[in-house]
Amino acid sequence: MQIDILTLFPEMFSGVLGHSMLQKAVEKSAVTYNVVNFRKYADNKHSQVDDYPYGGGAGMVLMPQPIFAAVADLKEKAACKKPRVILLCPQGTRYDQKKAEELAKEEHLIFICGHYEGYDERIRKHIVTDEISIGDYVLTGGELAAMVVVDSVVRLLPEVLGNAESHIKDSFSTGLLEHPHYTRPADFHGMKVPDVLLSGNHKLIEEWRNKEALRRTLERRPDLLEKIELTPQQKKWLQE
Ligand code: ADE
Repeated sequence: MQIDILTLFPEMFSGVLGHSMLQKAVEKSAVTYNVVNFRKYADNKHSQVDDYPYGGGAGMVLMPQPIFAAVADLKEKAACKKPRVILLCPQGTRYDQKKAEELAKEEHLIFICGHYEGYDERIRKHIVTDEISIGDYVLTGGELAAMVVVDSVVRLLPEVLGNAESHIKDSFSTGLLEHPHYTRPADFHGMKVPDVLLSGNHKLIEEWRNKEALRRTLERRPDLLEKIELTPQQKKWLQE
């Protein structure tokens, strides 16, 4: 996968993309990152990228020219001519695991991160394929949001996640939150691991995990239960 990130603050990405799984993904040739300061595409004397809004009002608006030029250049250089062009903004569609899974199937993603009051509407209308918000709060810019999306997409790439089962069972992939996990010791200062997990009975362990995932989801995120089709067994557990 090719990931291009258009930003005025490329340094913000070096820590995140250069560590842990996101860095390993590069070593495994699963992904190539290209972080670009789009100011270099501005065709005016002072490399200006924002301007006052027509009609007046507070704040500056990101100009179309540098973004149009940057995206055209990235498209031309790429092998895949149909990238998803993602604008990070609070007005976008709320991001979730389903969207991460959808984006993980693409060959080429271009992220546009802005730091201004707004984007010229022509960027949205003619360049962008997806507008994404990572939650109902306002960040100072799209960079942190882009990092969230990149992280959640890259970890899903088949070459990256060694244990394929572990993301099939991820919270949200199943529609439920994950069950609790325990590791050694079995007794930590009197705080004990549930007996069933030490029993060696895989069928009972699986059942306990499924039940706990359901219980946790009911307690913390009952809204998620409305989005999935419960099995007869799960319905029974809910009535217990
Ligand atoms: N830019 C500013 N706030 C944002 C948000 N909540 N999600 C995505 N991009 C943003």
